[in-house]
Formats: sequence, C-alpha cells, structure tokens
Amino acid sequence: MNRMKKDIYKKFTLELDGLKEKDSFRSFKPYSEKENKYINISGKKYLNLSSNDYLGLSSNKEIIKEFYVTNKFDEKCLKFRLGSASSRLLTGDSFLHTELESELKKLYSREVLTFNSGYHANISIIPAIASRSDLILMDKLCHASIIDGSRLSFAKSLNFNHLNYENLEDLLKRHRDKYENVMIVSESLFSMDGDIADITKLVKLKKKYNCILYIDEAHSVGVYGENGLGLCEEEGLINEIDFIIGTFGKALGSYGAFAVTSRMFKEYLVNKARSLIFTTALPPIIINWSTFIIKKLLGLTAERQKLFEITKELRRLFQEKGLEVIGSSHIIPVIIGLNDKTLKVADRLKEKGFYCLPIRPPTVPEGTSRIRISLTSNMNIDDIIKIPQIISNALKSD
Ligand SMILES: Cc1ncc(COP(=O)(O)O)c(C=O)c1O
Repeated sequence: MNRMKKDIYKKFTLELDGLKEKDSFRSFKPYSEKENKYINISGKKYLNLSSNDYLGLSSNKEIIKEFYVTNKFDEKCLKFRLGSASSRLLTGDSFLHTELESELKKLYSREVLTFNSGYHANISIIPAIASRSDLILMDKLCHASIIDGSRLSFAKSLNFNHLNYENLEDLLKRHRDKYENVMIVSESLFSMDGDIADITKLVKLKKKYNCILYIDEAHSVGVYGENGLGLCEEEGLINEIDFIIGTFGKALGSYGAFAVTSRMFKEYLVNKARSLIFTTALPPIIINWSTFIIKKLLGLTAERQKLFEITKELRRLFQEKGLEVIGSSHIIPVIIGLNDKTLKVADRLKEKGFYCLPIRPPTVPEGTSRIRISLTSNMNIDDIIKIPQIISNALKSD
C-alpha cells in the first residue's frame, strides 16, 4: 500500500524538481501595498514594470477615493454588496450588470455581454461557437486561455504562424470547404511580444473565406483607439468582427471581461457559454467599479498620449544602445534567451530599483526567455531612462 502511494506522488515531486533545475519553477511573491507606479517589497520601493495597469487606474489613490466618496457606501451598502450569491441566470443578475453592459453598448454601438474574467470568456465562448463540424485557426502565440478554449471545444484546431497571414490563407484554401464553420482567432496586441495583429487583413480573410472572426483585445482595450476601445476601434473595424473580447483587469484597473458581438450571438452565449451559466456572477462592488471606470474611459486621452510618448522614447533609447527589442507597443520585450541569464538581468534591474519579472517557458517558447517591460502612463521618461544601460551592462558582465 505504502509503496503504491509513493509511486503516485513521486511523479509530481520529480516534475517540480525538474522545473527548479531549469529555473522554471513558479511561486507566489506576496507584496505589500502598491501605490501608483511603485511596488513595495520588504520595505523597499521599486518602479513596477510588471503590471498590466497601463493607465495607472487600479492603484490611483485619487480615483479610488473618488469612487468611494461619491458612492457613499454606508448609505447604499446593499448596492455595493461583496458577493452576488448565484449565477446571473438564477438570482445573481442585477440592474448593475445591465447598466455596465449598456454603458459599453453606447461606446461600441453593439451588443455587449460581460464575463467573470478574460479567461472565463475565452474558455467558454470559443467552445460554445466552434463545435464538432468546425475548424479553429489561431495565431500560434495566442494566450493560454484561448488555447484552453479551443481544447474544450470539439472542433479541430490548427495554428498559423505568428502574424503570418499568408500561412493563414494557405490553411483556409486547404481546409475551408471541409468544415461547416471556420473560426479565425487572434489577439490584437500580443502580450508577451508587444506586437500587433493586422486586423484589416484578418477581416479581409474572414470575408473572403466566410469565417467567424474572434479578436482578443485584453491588452489593447483602454490604451488604443480614439475612445480607448482598442485596436479594432483604431482600425475602424468594430462592426466587422464577430467577437471582440475586452478585459477589465488590465488597463481598466478592475476585474472581469466583456464580449462585443451581435444580438443573436449575445442570446446564443447566454444559453450556451458554460462559464457564464455555471458560475457565480461578478460581485456588485466590482460591477460598480467597472462602470465607474468605463464612464471615465473617453476622458483618458492624456494618459493614452503619455503612454505612447514614453513608449516611443524608451524604444528609441534601446535602439541607440544597440539592444534588440521586439514589437511596437507599450509592452517592450527584451529577448535574452536562456533562463539563468534572464534571471540575472532581472536581478540587476531589481538592485537598481526596477521591478521587472523575467518571462520564461512555458509562457514563451523555449530559448526566448525575456525581460518584459510593461509601461504605464503614470511613469515619466526620467523614471525609465536608465533601463537600457542597466540591461546592456548586465549582458556585458555575463
Ligand atoms: C490575451 C489574453 N486574453 C485573456 C487573458 C485573461 O484575462 P483575465 O486576466 O481577465 O482572466 C489574458 C491575461 O493575461 C490575456 O493576455
């Protein structure tokens, strides 16, 4: 009996040991308070270059205070309950959800359905829409939640090479006619590479081959587009895409997600999306905060502009130092390659007051470990000007 038990558990401990050997072991790092662009760790203050708080909203004291003060919580405490106690399809729904969805509908001029997170949205919309007789064609570097969504569906799934639309078209030519529906899936801004999909091309291919187009805007909502609605807005293509996924947990500084879609698909998802049907609805306090932020979104032009300015300047400084960075957005990945070397560069940055977590496989492909600098609009160029030199020195001293 004992021997049997040992064998059962050994597999897991061996796997953990393997991760440690490869410098790929992950663990939590409990932080003390985060304030604006800074993070405090063991009494020391660092510039936080590893957050998705692109507009600096989630840790903006003034905005949080405004939310609490204007809402007079003690008087209206029930409106701001901390739990919703059931699924939206039972008694967890409230006019607060409807208010949030109608605020978003006003902005996108399309139907909107909220989800508990971007992960929940991707793992339930994709399998709800793509079934046994269908094909999913997804960009090779799509996020884990998209991969999991496609695994949960009964559809056949194929990857096309990253941002390679000739490869995508080739797959469409070869396979389109064999399937009832084909769903093309891409992110608009790839979070680990900081590069941007050609949404215009994707729309052309969707139309040419009569496909369903699904674009995940997790990292571009709030940041891109005149009104901060994302890259589909910037390209004037909101109406051409079957599903646009936005998340509240990144630039919008809250928690949850939404799908922008047609009335028919909204009704379909309410009936078919399992992570919407079989889970407790988002708590009212979070819905209130998301609505509060969405009402501010149009007015955040200065923040968006600032983010673009510091991005442009930091990318220029990297180029000046002869360091290769990829992508074109406020997410600036510096590819280092090996895990141990990447960890060393991250340590050097930390010694100098910059908190920038190393990104390693399996999050990114083997041999492409990187330092991923994630800029936020509450930083100034003076805050980040030294980073290229520090990385350059760390690489030379290795
Ligand atoms: C492209 C993409 N989609 C979805 C998600 C998941 O979003 P959430 O954090 O709201 O679950 C992420 C998270 O990083 C992401 O990068």
